[in-house]
Amino acid sequence: MMEKSVRPILEMNAFDKQSPHNTNVARRLANTGASSVLFYRDPIEMVSAEGVWMTAKDGTRYLDFYNNVPCLGHSHPAVVAAVSQQLAKLNTNTRYIVPIVDDYLEALKTTFPEPLSNVVLTCSGSEANDLAMRLACKHTGGEGFIVTESAYHGNTSLVTQVSPSALKNTKLPDHVIAIPPPSKKYYGSNIAQGFAERVESAIAQLEQRGIKAAALLLDSIFSSDGVFAEPDGFLKQAVEVIHNAGGLYIADEVQPGFARTGTAFWGFQNHDVVPDIVTLGKPMGNGFPMAGVVTKPQFLDEFCADVGYFNTFGGNPVAAAAGLAVLNEIKNQNLQDNARILGDYLKAGLQKIADLSPHIGEVRGSGLFLGIDICHPNDNNQPDPEVTLAMIDKFRDENILIGAAGAAGATLKLRPALCLTKSEADLFLQAFKKILDDI
Ligand SMILES: Cc1ncc(COP(=O)(O)O)c(C=O)c1O
Repeated sequence: MMEKSVRPILEMNAFDKQSPHNTNVARRLANTGASSVLFYRDPIEMVSAEGVWMTAKDGTRYLDFYNNVPCLGHSHPAVVAAVSQQLAKLNTNTRYIVPIVDDYLEALKTTFPEPLSNVVLTCSGSEANDLAMRLACKHTGGEGFIVTESAYHGNTSLVTQVSPSALKNTKLPDHVIAIPPPSKKYYGSNIAQGFAERVESAIAQLEQRGIKAAALLLDSIFSSDGVFAEPDGFLKQAVEVIHNAGGLYIADEVQPGFARTGTAFWGFQNHDVVPDIVTLGKPMGNGFPMAGVVTKPQFLDEFCADVGYFNTFGGNPVAAAAGLAVLNEIKNQNLQDNARILGDYLKAGLQKIADLSPHIGEVRGSGLFLGIDICHPNDNNQPDPEVTLAMIDKFRDENILIGAAGAAGATLKLRPALCLTKSEADLFLQAFKKILDDI
């Protein structure tokens, strides 16, 4: 069962309907109604972006530590050129042979271990997870899913059911069990064993309800749970447990994938496991909407024997051009190394500042995906969402964009572009220190 304290992810730092200092907020509300998701109580009007920086209408330049979609940096010239050229030449669905599509698929596949050799391209991470879940149900004959308590896996009907952090009032359905994220707080010093035991009991719980487990579906860095990356390898035991029960392991790489963790190209590789299905998205096209499912041919054979799968825009040549540019740039600019080096630098700097502050619990994460727990002074186990929110606003005053995650919304989440420089990391560290000194 979900903890009562879990906060829906889209409600964290949501805009204030009563503070439309400009008419644009009212305009957005009139257009998108209750589904509006503007950031900041007092939202920002943005006009352009480049590298790790975004520029607002009033000319303010913001250091973007929030957005993990533009992994190469905003408006990256290689992606802009690749997309523009392909769009001017040919864009169509995947029913024709267009070599750039297969060039992309082959380049993407080189980043995966055997036997993950088939790819289905989609337009969103939600579609990717939706298909992954259907593949798992088909192969196993089960329909139960095990996820973490504040997981987010997307917005389709099927995927919303396994996204506790998207649910405001609704209870999880019987076929979904949410377990605590792999944190020391829940599992003590042996996270691997504690987490695996919890997966085991979730499988038993499903069985008691007459439901067979189809899959363990995990974001490889537990992004919306509050970022849990350490220690390396802690997922291995849990994956063995689900496999022994006849279920699959689906690795959701929508957030940690494409070199962000610095130590590996895919988050699951930090755990020395090979998933049955991997889902990709966000940074895949550096802002061009594209996502995908990577899996074993057998699963697609079984599924497609019953149902066809076609995605009008998924895997179009322009997406392939964007995706290829992303893979090439990550490699050519050594961005995985940069993520590791700058990530280590940032983490060490944050830890040094955190050691002097009673408001900081843990600093966690890997590469350029870090989480900082904000706690009540002198009680590291007591999350402080109010101070977290105040800090997010103070970062904004320092022209830095940052968000929060975790069950209580009290973990600052850092995900700058992989091209981050040392001086940009220093700007963040200086602001972090100043904000903590002022609290
Ligand atoms: C871990 C994870 N999986 C899946 C999704 C869904 O991706 P999309 O918004 O592209 O549908 C998200 C989106 O935030 C995500 O964070």
